[in-house]
Amino acid sequence: MQSLRAKTYLTVLPIVAAALLVSGYLSLMESSLALTRLANRHLAYKAEQLRDFLNSEWEVVESLGLAGKGEYRAAQEESFRSYAYSVLRSDTELVFALDGKGAALFRIGGLGGGGIEAGRGEEPPHRLGPGWFSERLFGEERVGIAFAFEPFGWTVGLSELRSAFFSDVDAILRANLLILVAALSCAILLSALFLRHLTGPLERLGGQIGRIARTGDLSLRAPLEYDDEIGELARRFNDLVGKLESRSLELAEANRAEREAHETAVQREAETLFLLGRISDYNDEKTGAHLARIGALSALFARVLGLGEAAEELILNSSPLHDIGKIAIPEAILLKPGKLSPEEFEAMQRHTLFGYELLRDSKSRFLAEGAAIAHSHHERWDGSGYPQGLAGEAIPLSARIVSIVDVFDALVSERPYKAAWSKEAALEHILEQGGRHFDPRLAELFAARFGEFAAAWDELRGSPRAAERDALY
Ligand SMILES: [Fe+2]
Ligand SMILES: [Fe+2]
Repeated sequence: MQSLRAKTYLTVLPIVAAALLVSGYLSLMESSLALTRLANRHLAYKAEQLRDFLNSEWEVVESLGLAGKGEYRAAQEESFRSYAYSVLRSDTELVFALDGKGAALFRIGGLGGGGIEAGRGEEPPHRLGPGWFSERLFGEERVGIAFAFEPFGWTVGLSELRSAFFSDVDAILRANLLILVAALSCAILLSALFLRHLTGPLERLGGQIGRIARTGDLSLRAPLEYDDEIGELARRFNDLVGKLESRSLELAEANRAEREAHETAVQREAETLFLLGRISDYNDEKTGAHLARIGALSALFARVLGLGEAAEELILNSSPLHDIGKIAIPEAILLKPGKLSPEEFEAMQRHTLFGYELLRDSKSRFLAEGAAIAHSHHERWDGSGYPQGLAGEAIPLSARIVSIVDVFDALVSERPYKAAWSKEAALEHILEQGGRHFDPRLAELFAARFGEFAAAWDELRGSPRAAERDALY
């Protein structure tokens, strides 16, 4: 992508440079011409003076009738040389005279000559007509103006060294070039500053928009630098981000409230389920500690199996319902101190079916899972359990878990009719029953992680809540 700054540079700088170059070139040409005209006029004016001097002297000689006398002619030549010498203003100016054949008669002034007489006969002949010339004269490049003086058959010239003649023009050229370079540098610098001023806010605005998009931080705002179109753009962008920010805050708040409401509902449901479970278990244990331990140990099983948090929560809240069907069993059977008759035992076994009937078809996932556990928690791995005689993995996993945990808790708890087993003895029983009563894989896992299960059991045995309930009943 070509940046805006680069694009503007490529557009503006060539225009500025071209404008400066054209105007510089034109003014240079104009001043060179003007200077050349001035120098020409200067030489032409002096040449005019020299010609006037010669003509007026000759007029005097002629009017006195002395034109034919050689000594007057020599005197006039002498007088002209003196006059010409006085006309010269610098040692680069030179006056000379050529005879009819173009041979140099004399030269006055000039760098090499210095004297009035130097140069006679040493110069090759020149064919110079009247008017401007530019020639190599007396070993130097010269420009000048020539005129004819008929009475003597002379061609008289006034000249300036070519380099001196154009030296001012050269100086002007150099000065102009310097000015041009300086103006170009200034223009480039000022353009760069101006473009920076122009594109800087846009670049910073773009950078900030990119940062907001990258970090998703809606509390950031674009910088408001100028009160122009870019400022307006930044303001509108900020308005947009502000609206997005308040919308996202509202959304986060709604999410939080919804999460809280959900948590409260789940907690209430769990409490209700637990209470339901306690009603069924009330005759055996009034504190509810047995059900709390079943929940906790089943959830620990789910964690050890790596089933995930949802499964842990599910079994934690549904396992306390495993004996809910007992509410339909007559108290005479439930509370009978001695051994049950076969009919009574059969009636007792029906608590699994009653529990299932009570909880099935519920929309609550806790109650639905509770139905499966209530139904199958007395099934055995080898198929010798009840009520359906399911075997192996046909028994729901949650029921296989609750079956181990329920038996373990019953063994290590004290009951009116039996003493509490040690945890080690209970573990031994469970391992021994692996593959018969219990899922052997779960039994092995229970043994492998026994430290954790024992600690979880201990934690809930002496829970304040359980003690407090004990005191109440
Ligand atoms: Fe049961
Ligand atoms: Fe139980």
